[in-house]
Amino acid sequence: MLFKEIKNNVFYAGLNDADRVIFDELIPLEHGTTYNSYLIKGSDKTAVIDTMYPPFSDLYIKNFEANGIEKVDYIIANHGEQDHSGSIPNLLDKFPNAIVITNEKCKQNIMEMLLIPEDKIRTIQDKEEISLGDKTLQFILAPGVHWPDTMFTCLKEDSMLFTCDFLGAHLPFEDLYSKNDELLYSMAKRYYAEIMMPFRLMCKKYLKMIDEIKPSYILPSHGPLYKEPEFILNAYKDWTDDKPKNLVLIPYVSMYGSTEEMVQYVKKALEKEGINVYTHDIVRDDLGDLAVQLVDAATIIVGASMVLAGPHPMAINACILANALKPKTKFASVIGSYGWGGKLAETIAGLFTAIKPEFIEPVIVKGRLKENDYKLLDSLVNSIIEKHKSIDLI
Ligand code: FEO
Repeated sequence: MLFKEIKNNVFYAGLNDADRVIFDELIPLEHGTTYNSYLIKGSDKTAVIDTMYPPFSDLYIKNFEANGIEKVDYIIANHGEQDHSGSIPNLLDKFPNAIVITNEKCKQNIMEMLLIPEDKIRTIQDKEEISLGDKTLQFILAPGVHWPDTMFTCLKEDSMLFTCDFLGAHLPFEDLYSKNDELLYSMAKRYYAEIMMPFRLMCKKYLKMIDEIKPSYILPSHGPLYKEPEFILNAYKDWTDDKPKNLVLIPYVSMYGSTEEMVQYVKKALEKEGINVYTHDIVRDDLGDLAVQLVDAATIIVGASMVLAGPHPMAINACILANALKPKTKFASVIGSYGWGGKLAETIAGLFTAIKPEFIEPVIVKGRLKENDYKLLDSLVNSIIEKHKSIDLI
């Protein structure tokens, strides 16, 4: 548990959870995460921005006691998800005169999820301000990055923007500020891929808004704080750009080696033509890596064996996840092999309802590859080369 002054009576009051291995029972965490909470002491009022994941509520409250915090007037809920709102009830028990300040959507969420009484909540409108005396908080509704209830809070006098989940990273830290190194970049990209990419267009919208605000500090709800916000803002501008990169992503599962042979053949042929290829073993590799590559991939080729007359279930799982993440991928195809038949390409194509890629003729073989199958794979490679030439890439 940390309690550290950021600047001018603004304190970090969050926690590193380096031992957490999975988030939402879905997202593997390579390094754990953090739950960032902030305390702002104005000359008149004291506010807390976001609270704590419930398993750490007691520790969180003890940290306030250990650091002599005797009053909290406002608890700002930027978002209703419980890794941030979950300790509001504990904070209200500790500071019974405090009121929760949030937007209408978040109010409904925290009343339902945390059973917070309605009379303890005051709702605000977009751009509304409250005064803490010598400090002013302005609330900026930001629905869609990533819940409909999300908002940012701007501490105007100190040029600090508290962006909730937006621009965060699942990465614990000892010093408050980001080192802007390769590790942070990769963790922030992974976080974007897994959490924010389905809302790419909304991300673009709020990036523009933040450019206008020009905050000196960006203080997210997960991961290190930014006092050089250009690092994360420029990274997001790249990731959210409409143009994909010259990259083919091939997630695959191969039961007896035929599909893997096809994958390696296609990879080699594409790379020979200067196209980057990332292969992902669906069964053994971290699904987060698949998500990260989806940020940039122009084309996805699903490689799958057939099981019980359909795609291998692990391939279906990966396709459902990829589709849910709504990457900007433009083209797709399927390669794979079967023993006794079924629907492979049609089933996978039917899973990409949100991506809506242009499908390139699949190559499906019975058993091992024969001479003509290599020709079909050559044709698939040539189609991808032509497709990539036909669009703007970065
Ligand atoms: Fe970190 Fe949407 O919660």
